[in-house]
Amino acid sequence: MATDDAVRGALCVQMGREFAAHFQYLAMSAWLEEQGLPEMAAFFARQADEEHVHAMKFFRFVLDTGGPVEIPGQDAPVATFASAEALVAAALAQEEQVTAWIGELVHLAREHRDLAAEAFLQWFVTEQVEEVATMTELLQVVRHAGTSLLLVEDYVVRRAPGAGGGA
Ligand code: FEO
Repeated sequence: MATDDAVRGALCVQMGREFAAHFQYLAMSAWLEEQGLPEMAAFFARQADEEHVHAMKFFRFVLDTGGPVEIPGQDAPVATFASAEALVAAALAQEEQVTAWIGELVHLAREHRDLAAEAFLQWFVTEQVEEVATMTELLQVVRHAGTSLLLVEDYVVRRAPGAGGGA
């Protein structure tokens, strides 16, 4: 069954936001690398990859339910930050905003009795719990570290995939 126009349009808007998140995290990664924080930079590059995967899930779902896909235009990402703490706080705020948007999409899908869209969005509901938790913890660690950002670099290495410290 094709997704109706209101739901399809909203899913395309969210796809655009996920692409925007991809570019925002890439910009954050670049800034961190410029500051001499390669592990935090790698963390944000991995987050950027995840956002691209998220965007492509919307792309695929809209196509699989009959399309058409409309890819929204993008504003340039924020490229400079007052501090690493400000950067991570901005990333957490972004994840909280995405969580709210996903919640609105679930309600829209329900309102339109679009079971396929509702089921599709459940993955994102779960994913956002993890994304907000990850960024909340990183912000706490950055705040504990204060000016000793090499401690954050160590933390990120321990938490990296394959390091045995969790995702
Ligand atoms: Fe795709 Fe981090 O939200």
